[in-house]
Amino acid sequence: MNEANEQLVQAAIAAAHNAYAPYSNFHVGAALLLDNGEVVTGANFENASYGMTLCAETVAIAKANSDGQMRRIVAIAVAGGPRSAEGGAVIGADPISPCGRCRQVIKEVADEVAIDLPVHCAHASGYETYLLSELLPHGFGPASLKS
Ligand code: THU
Repeated sequence: MNEANEQLVQAAIAAAHNAYAPYSNFHVGAALLLDNGEVVTGANFENASYGMTLCAETVAIAKANSDGQMRRIVAIAVAGGPRSAEGGAVIGADPISPCGRCRQVIKEVADEVAIDLPVHCAHASGYETYLLSELLPHGFGPASLKS
């Protein structure tokens, strides 16, 4: 385990405290590492119209983009689980990984920065790292529009 990765995972776990998830009670946090060492976090944001829910990873990426930092992203961490009594997530034994829509959103960033972004997926005893190319092989991205 690498200390920088571990810190990013911890930032994702902390961000899960800010989830607004009154419908699923499943709290998710995401943390993006920027090339200058800064970290941008996000949490899931649910809606009474369930399908409008925004996932933590997508929120974090949109937040970084809104601050002009999207092209600085070099790594991503995600952590989540059922809401704990303290308001965060109870991290389970198995890692959670980004949903299909978030994988597509991450693909856009990965292609922009030309990095096969590592995604650190938290579990109770640490994290598993997957590359975006493993999570979304043969994905559709910006380059597909030019081919
Ligand atoms: N969720 C995320 O925030 N990220 C994912 O990658 C998977 C799912 C959220 C959406 C919803 O608020 C809750 O987890 C249960 O699906």
